[in-house]
Amino acid sequence: MARQNRTTIKFKLAFFSTLLVVFVALSGSYYILRAQKQTLIAEGNTSRIDTVKALRQVAREALLVDDDTGIVNYANLLRKALTISYAMVLNTDGKVRVHTDPLLIGKTLSDPASGQALAARSRETPLLQRLTLDDGREILDYSIPIVLGLTPPEYKGVARIGFDKKAIDLLLSDSLSKMTRQIIGAFVFALIIGLLGAIVLATLIAKPIESLRLGAKTIGEGKLNHRIEVNTHDELKDLADEFNLMAKKLGELDQMKQDFVSNVTHELRSPLTSIRGYLDLLIQGAAGPNTDLQRDYLSIIKNSSVRLARFIDNLLDVAKIEAHKLTLSPSPADLQQLAHEMEVLFKPQMDEKKIRFSNLIPKNIPLIFVDKDKFAEVTINLTSNAIKFTSEEGLVKFLAVEGPNYVEIHIEDTGAGIPKDMIGKLFNKFEQVKSSQGLARKQKGTGLGLAIVKGIVEAHGGRIWVESPAPSGKGSVFKFTVPKLTDELKQKYNLTHPS
Ligand SMILES: Nc1ncnc2c1ncn2[C@@H]1O[C@H](COP(=O)(O)OP(=O)(O)O)[C@@H](O)[C@H]1O
Ligand SMILES: [Mg+2]
Repeated sequence: MARQNRTTIKFKLAFFSTLLVVFVALSGSYYILRAQKQTLIAEGNTSRIDTVKALRQVAREALLVDDDTGIVNYANLLRKALTISYAMVLNTDGKVRVHTDPLLIGKTLSDPASGQALAARSRETPLLQRLTLDDGREILDYSIPIVLGLTPPEYKGVARIGFDKKAIDLLLSDSLSKMTRQIIGAFVFALIIGLLGAIVLATLIAKPIESLRLGAKTIGEGKLNHRIEVNTHDELKDLADEFNLMAKKLGELDQMKQDFVSNVTHELRSPLTSIRGYLDLLIQGAAGPNTDLQRDYLSIIKNSSVRLARFIDNLLDVAKIEAHKLTLSPSPADLQQLAHEMEVLFKPQMDEKKIRFSNLIPKNIPLIFVDKDKFAEVTINLTSNAIKFTSEEGLVKFLAVEGPNYVEIHIEDTGAGIPKDMIGKLFNKFEQVKSSQGLARKQKGTGLGLAIVKGIVEAHGGRIWVESPAPSGKGSVFKFTVPKLTDELKQKYNLTHPS
């Protein structure tokens, strides 16, 4: 499976939800900050208007009692305010009546906000002018008419305050930066919570998907009894249920196929037995002498029927294993001797391919406790594979390691090796590595050998697996375990004199 250069669902989910969280938090902060800034600006303007109106009120009261002390006191108060550059009350002719700068009292101002023109203005919205003083200070100048009485209204002068723009801006930016700090704090907090949420979400979604993937892989490797467990109570659980249903149906189909194959093989066996019987008779000349050509043809028929019989036996073996009907009659066995038998048996084939054989089984390896015929089937299959899939001048090696109550046997070769994606499937029946079949030459094979080997090893309570490349760096090594003849076993089977 091409798993490189792949981003997992978990990563994608976490990444995109984090991106979303960052985007929402950022744009949220931006809009809050902007709205707050506008509110602050509006509030500043209102409070300045209120200040001018308050000055007007004081001036009005002073006019009513004809005593300026109130205005003077109020002006002194205003002078202390940081943002205020000046405050004044003017008479209708533009003459300064009260001023925060006493030197200016009595002077006449002549700008548009000081004379009669202002009388006509709205009495509630002051006139706002932006002025620049001689010393370069920028001023927001608010002026509002002072009017006494309603009918007829009597214009009495102007209340006027100049606010220092720079001081206002400074105050504004102070509050803004305080607010920004608070919002950044909230942003970081939201981000952390959002990030945690994203990771939790991604894990929640990715976990059942991963168990689905693993389950599907297991089922795909032929373990049709496997069931996928997903407890999310959503579509993923439905998907898992569908998968399980599919696996169940596949299992049923597989069972039907097994039954069919087993029936067919049984039916094939009896006619084949009689064919072989009569063939032997023919070869022996029981039906009259054979010509050379007839003998040749008969021997070809004989070879083919032997192959066919072996195949049928294999199929029956597999059927027996699958139905758990394999019966064993175990007895103590000497691994050294068995290895030697293999060496002798396969010598012609190894010589033909100039393959070297090396028996590295320790001399003192303990006895094993196996069904000798079935065990021979295992070693024959594995050794013939090792030879079959190794090219000329290779090496086949036997090795054994003693475990607590088992012996681990290694059959290693320097051959074609086994591709990663096949390693899990190789022990299923009919599985063959396409690319290495060339090495098998004439002996095409059926892909049943390893399935039988696995069944026999497991019936003995052992396990079998393959590692490829082998420790030598190429080829493969099949490793399997078989029971060691322990004292416990000896007692159980009453074996005081091991054979
Ligand atoms: N020692 C080995 N080296 C390389 N490939 C092997 C080896 N043993 C088995 N295989 C692969 O596993 C497949 C299955 O083996 P097996 O079940 O014995 O079937 P068969 O020998 O009939 O093809 C083989 O076809 C081959 O592709
Ligand atoms: Mg084989």
